[in-house]
Amino acid sequence: MDFSLSEEQIALMTAVREFARAEIVPVAAALDREGRFPWETLRKMGALGLLGVTTPERYGGAGLDNVSYAILVEEIAAADASHATIMSVTNGLPQSLLLSHGTDEQRDAYLPKLASGEWIGAFCLSEAHSGSDAAALRTTARRVDGGYVLDGAKAWVTSGGEAQLYVVMAKTDVGAGARGVSTFLVEKGTAGVGFGKPEEKLGQHAAVTSTVTFDDCFVPDTALLGKEGQGFVIAMSALDGGRIGIASLAVGVARAAFEAARDYAAERTAFGKAIHEFQAIGFKLADMLTQIEAARLMTLRAAWLKDAGNRTTREAAMAKLVASEMANRVTHDAVQVLGGYGYTKDYPVERYFRDARVTEIYEGTREVQRMVIHRQIYRDLDR
Ligand code: CAA
Repeated sequence: MDFSLSEEQIALMTAVREFARAEIVPVAAALDREGRFPWETLRKMGALGLLGVTTPERYGGAGLDNVSYAILVEEIAAADASHATIMSVTNGLPQSLLLSHGTDEQRDAYLPKLASGEWIGAFCLSEAHSGSDAAALRTTARRVDGGYVLDGAKAWVTSGGEAQLYVVMAKTDVGAGARGVSTFLVEKGTAGVGFGKPEEKLGQHAAVTSTVTFDDCFVPDTALLGKEGQGFVIAMSALDGGRIGIASLAVGVARAAFEAARDYAAERTAFGKAIHEFQAIGFKLADMLTQIEAARLMTLRAAWLKDAGNRTTREAAMAKLVASEMANRVTHDAVQVLGGYGYTKDYPVERYFRDARVTEIYEGTREVQRMVIHRQIYRDLDR
């Protein structure tokens, strides 16, 4: 078993770490304070291939593997979780779905714009009354001559209002439960598409989140992604990949918090010595680093399994579960190491603490990850 990264992966990781430190770290606190969508830095990320990491080069993407993708999301998240969320959603959901289910025309129309960062992609599954119970969605897509008419409202859409392409799950057969869901590609600017005001969130303020509404919104037949009735399975399979991205993001945020705590504990003195020399702090740092490493290994293994062509429902859910719970513990402990300073905006750890919280909620709560893993236990027995 070889755990080493390739020379190319190490070079990419180093280059993106330098980019993130130079371009994202200096603006992250201000973007968070202002709740401003980071178009300027996203354009730079697009130019580096970070907004189309696994999209093939013929569509303008970087054409990299999923292990590289996981490494790069971690690097961006270590600078700012909001950038990493936008990156993870546009890469891991719309682009991966276009690649797995899109027609040639759909791929040609959208992938070059998304992969370059000219456009950002969004994913519209949840609704106000249905988050974990995703199949209970109520948005409808009524068949009409030449296309469909969408009606309903989607909630918690990352990049809502900013993104130009929305992947929308809607019911084409209201009585058929999960099997009545279909997926549509809807462009910003389509008549009948509206956006709510950005949600006022605990963290990740620059990754704007809003509702997206569809009011008598006509889309042509060519907007259907995959087949009618496949939409739920399409959404779930996208999340199998997306959850690897969120796990990487959680690892990155936790790493940033650990590094801030490590550096502070070396400089801060109490009772005549650096505070890391006290076992209470030294052991805390040791536990933080160990948990980060464990979550990273699970995340990279899930990415590696995906690269090998495996279904990763279980491994992605496990990686996201472990990484998100770890990130919450580690960022909590980082605030503790910095004491009162950790609770202020003088240091970035309070932002890491706030930003980590949603990793246990979006792309499936920690409880949903356990549901997925539980079901896979018995599915695996049946194989
Ligand atoms: N891959 C392929 N098929 C899958 C699948 C997967 N990972 N998971 C389920 N399916 C299939 C099942 O095999 C089943 O197919 P059949 O009907 O042919 O048997 C069908 O889908 C229905 O599956 P379930 O019966 O398991 O469905 P369920 O209603 O019980 O729901 C659930 C299961 C795991 C709880 C699911 O609803 C779920 O994951 N919920 C959470 C949704 C989520 O993560 N939302 C986040 C939204 S994205 C986001 O956060 C926004 C953002 O911008 C970041």
